[in-house]
This record gives sequence, structure tokens and C-alpha cells, in this order.
Amino acid sequence: MTSESNSPSISGSKSVLYPDQINFSEKEARTCGQKCLIFLLIILFIAAAVFMALFLVYFFKYEDRDTNDICDTVNCVKTAAMLAEKMDQSVNPCEDFDKYACGNFYHTVVLDDGETRKNSFSLVSDRNNDFLKSLLAEETKPGDRDYMINAKNLYKSCMDEGKIEEIGVQPFLNTSYAKEWPTLIGENWAGEASFSLDDFIGRYMYVSADAIFSFEVTADIMNSSRHTIWLTDPMLCLSRQYLTRARNDSVLQAYEKYLKDYAVALGAAPRTAARDAAAFLDLEMQLANITVPPEGRRDYSKMYNPTTLTDLRQNYSYIDIPRGLRAAFTLANMTLEDDQNITVLFPSYFEKLEAVLATAEKRTLMNLFGFMYALKRVKGLTKQLREIDLEWAKVYTGKTQELPRWKKCLGYATSTFSFGISKEFTRRKFSEDSKHYLEVSCGNCSCLT
Ligand SMILES: *[C@@H]1O[C@H](CO)[C@@H](O)[C@H](O)[C@H]1NC(C)=O
Ligand SMILES: *[C@@H]1O[C@H](CO)[C@@H](O)[C@H](O)[C@H]1NC(C)=O
Ligand SMILES: *[C@@H]1O[C@H](CO)[C@@H](O)[C@H](O)[C@H]1NC(C)=O
Ligand SMILES: *[C@@H]1O[C@H](CO)[C@@H](O)[C@H](O)[C@H]1NC(C)=O
Ligand SMILES: *[C@@H]1O[C@H](CO)[C@@H](O)[C@H](O)[C@H]1NC(C)=O
Ligand SMILES: *[C@@H]1O[C@H](CO)[C@@H](O)[C@H](O)[C@H]1NC(C)=O
Ligand SMILES: *[C@@H]1O[C@H](CO)[C@@H](O)[C@H](O)[C@H]1NC(C)=O
Ligand SMILES: *[C@@H]1O[C@H](CO)[C@@H](O)[C@H](O)[C@H]1NC(C)=O
Repeated sequence: MTSESNSPSISGSKSVLYPDQINFSEKEARTCGQKCLIFLLIILFIAAAVFMALFLVYFFKYEDRDTNDICDTVNCVKTAAMLAEKMDQSVNPCEDFDKYACGNFYHTVVLDDGETRKNSFSLVSDRNNDFLKSLLAEETKPGDRDYMINAKNLYKSCMDEGKIEEIGVQPFLNTSYAKEWPTLIGENWAGEASFSLDDFIGRYMYVSADAIFSFEVTADIMNSSRHTIWLTDPMLCLSRQYLTRARNDSVLQAYEKYLKDYAVALGAAPRTAARDAAAFLDLEMQLANITVPPEGRRDYSKMYNPTTLTDLRQNYSYIDIPRGLRAAFTLANMTLEDDQNITVLFPSYFEKLEAVLATAEKRTLMNLFGFMYALKRVKGLTKQLREIDLEWAKVYTGKTQELPRWKKCLGYATSTFSFGISKEFTRRKFSEDSKHYLEVSCGNCSCLT
């Protein structure tokens, strides 16, 4: 009994309590209450002090920012207004942040003729395009640099639709490339016996029709002070995500018809064109099937497979990759040495390629080059070809109208003379201060003046 009264700690766990034990615990509770109150006061005091300190810090910071840190130049105010215009501030950001940040943009943005998308970047590029259009539409004048003269001539000739219709696709048909394209030649293609894939890879890489493999010159990812050649998979006619769909997919069916219509428009017999287009698409699908999917294209350490031209020839003896690369580099009057460093991005593609090439018909391989070259050269050239493009675009992108001619020609000229036109744009549009700032940051490269 005494031992129990002296050990209050166990009493709580018992179901029956003795009176003295209850007293004891009430006394203990009161003591705790006082202690807690003192403790609470201390906490409150500390909290008040911290709050005061924070307030002072905030107050002085705010004062400081009010005068120095808030940008109220004309450009800053304009930019803030531009952002605010896109927002829908009636929406609670905690409920739908996208609507809060972009709601008004969705309501007010309008797609122009032939456009299929618009975002805040394209609004800026629309403004830039208006300026570039005026730049390219200017008559050439004394003092114009060569690239501007060429760009203006290209833009002008692209805008001259009458002349383009008059000349038509004949210059293309006159090329030796068109003359060896089986689909245009017809059923009695005589090239089968002497066909050599290696001959054609080089010949067509020279005109950027990289049908079997492709390359890019870029900084070495392990040492950005030197350049390397990246050997990659080819440019396929459609992206991999379409080419790996079921053969009867509506996009693939539309693309097959598109290829056939193009070949017919260029003079092929409809029946030959249909068969060759189908075989071409089958082969492209097989090539797409052995390419590395997007998720395998992220890990650069796996894609870093350095080798040399000589080793490439030994590793992939079924195909003369060095010959193709050398042909492409003769365009720039460059000769690749045997010990030239090459980085193979996707060795698995080249390992599987042999089997695909072994089963492909020679005629279809030749047509791979033929279709690719034709699409590169005459795509959208004449009204008839543009109608074929639009029919395909309706299925592919939902686009029902062509872009205005000037936008097409502007795109053509700016992509062809991208460096020169960018330079001219910078010269005219950027302030001296900004140019100087950039120039110093990039090590006084004097590329901007
Ligand atoms: C096509 O080539 C022929 C001769 O091979 C030539 O007479 C003709 O002018 C050329 N046509 C075009 C549009 O280049
Ligand atoms: C990177 O390449 C440059 C040029 O080839 C060379 O001078 C430099 O030593 C290389 N750096 C390293 C870390 O290998
Ligand atoms: C494609 O073919 C498969 C069977 O091979 C069929 O189930 C599917 O419905 C077809 N799809 C279309 C779009 O015709
Ligand atoms: C794709 O490749 C796999 C083997 O990797 C093969 O089983 C399949 O038939 C191929 N599909 C096509 C369309 O070539
Ligand atoms: C070339 O082959 C060798 C030996 O088979 C191999 O170790 C190397 O990884 C291959 N290189 C490339 C780039 O495929
Ligand atoms: C390559 O050399 C030829 C003949 O010397 C010359 O006409 C051409 O302009 C050169 N091309 C380049 C890109 O330097
Ligand atoms: C190729 O790269 C190696 C280093 O990986 C370097 O030593 C060699 O000089 C390079 N060869 C050429 C021709 O640049
Ligand atoms: C660039 O030029 C400025 C003077 O115009 C000089 O002060 C600066 O050190 C230079 N920077 C470099 C990286 O050469």
C-alpha cells in the first residue's frame, strides 16, 4: 500500500485509484501547469522577438527594393504588361495555375491562315518576321554584303510564283539523280544488275539525301574544345512514332498516297508509283524499327562510342560508311583522313542494319534515294505539288490552308541563310550597349558588328 502511494507513476496504469494517489497527481498537474505557463511565456517572447526582427529586415529590404531593385524602365513595364495580359487573374492559382497564368492568352490568341499552333514564342517570332520581311523585300543596294544580296534574291525568286509555274519541275527532271530514279524510269529499270549501294550512298550524301545513315559535326561531348563527327541513324521520311505504327494506320496510309501522288505529278506511271511508294514506306518502317527509341537517346555516356574511319570500315564491313562520309565532306573541299575521329551514337542501329539491307530489294533501295532527293528538291514547288502537300497536311496536322506565300519564302530564305540573316537582324535591331555587352562576354569575338 505505501509502496503504491509512493509510486504515482504506475498508478495511472491502474483501473482503481486510491484517494491519496489522486491528490498526489492533482498536485503534480498544478506544478506542471505553472511550469508550462512560464515555458509558454518564454516561447511567446522569443516568437515576438523573431517576428520583430523579421519585420525590421523585411522593412529595410522593402525600402531598399522600392528604390533600387524594382525595374521600372519602359521595357520592364511593357514586359510586365505583356505577361499580365496573358493571365486570368480572376482564377485562383491554387486551383488552376495554368488558367491563372495563361487563361487570357487562350481566349484572345487567333491562328492566322495556314497556322496550326501559336505560343508566346511564336508571338515574338511573328513580330520578328514582319521586320525580316521588310528587310528581305528591300531592293539590293550598294554596300549590301554578299549573304544579304543572295538572301534577297532567293526571297524574290521564291515570291515570283508566275515564273516558278512557267519553269515547273523540268530542271529537277533534267538532273542525273531524277534520271536514275526507278519510279520515274518505270518497270524496265536497268540498274538492277550493276546496283551498288556503296556507290549510291556517297553520291546521295553529297546532295544531303542521307537515306541509310546520317552525320553531324559537333563539339566532342567529352572535350568541347575539339570537334567530332557524330555518326547517326538516317533522316526518315516521317518520325519514328508514326513509322512504328500498324501498317494500316491512317497517317501511314495518307503518307503512302502522298508519295504516290508526288511520283505521279513528276511523271511516273500511276501503277508503278503506287507499288514503289508502298515498298518505300515498308522499307522506311523497317529502318525506323531498328532505330533507337527516344528514351534511348538521353544518356550521352552510352552514346559516346568513339572510333575512327578505319575502324568503322572494319566493324561494319557490309557497308562503306567512310566512303559516304568522304563524299559528303567533298562539298566543303575537305578530305577525311583514315584516323579521323568519329563518334558512333547508336551502334545497335548499325548492327541491325545489315539484316535489313540484305533482305531489301535493290529497286526499293534505289527508290529510297529517289524519293528522298525528289522531296528535298521539289517539295511544294508548283501549285499542283502544293495541293498534294496540303492534302497530306490535313491528315497529318489538321492544317486546311497554306501559309501565305511570303511566310513560306521568308522561312525558306532564313533557313538557307540563317547566319547571315541573323547577323543582319542583330545589326539593325540590337542596341550598341547590348552588342557590346555580348561581345565582351563572348571574349571580344567581334562577330556582332
Ligand atoms: C534539260 O536538258 C536539255 C538537254 O539535256 C536542255 O536542252 C534543256 O534546256 C534542259 N531544260 C531545263 C529546264 O534545264
Ligand atoms: C581537349 O582538346 C584539345 C584540342 O584537341 C586539347 O588541346 C586538350 O588537351 C584536350 N583536353 C583534354 C582534357 O583532353
Ligand atoms: C488495322 O488492321 C487490324 C488487323 O490487322 C485491325 O484490327 C484494325 O482495325 C485496322 N485498323 C484500321 C485503322 O483499319
Ligand atoms: C521490328 O523488329 C523486331 C525485332 O527486333 C521484329 O520482330 C519485327 O518484326 C520488326 N517489325 C517490323 C515492322 O519490321
Ligand atoms: C568496333 O568493334 C570492336 C571489336 O568488335 C568493339 O570493341 C567496338 O566497340 C566497336 N566500335 C564501334 C564504334 O562499334
Ligand atoms: C571547293 O573548291 C572548288 C574548286 O577549287 C571551289 O570552286 C569551291 O568554291 C570550293 N568550295 C568551298 C566550299 O570552299
Ligand atoms: C582522335 O582522338 C584522340 C583522342 O581520343 C586523339 O589523340 C587523336 O589525335 C584524334 N585524332 C584526330 C585525327 O584528331
Ligand atoms: C574585351 O575588350 C575589352 C575592351 O574593349 C577588355 O576590357 C576586355 O578585357 C576584353 N575581354 C577579353 C576576354 O578579351
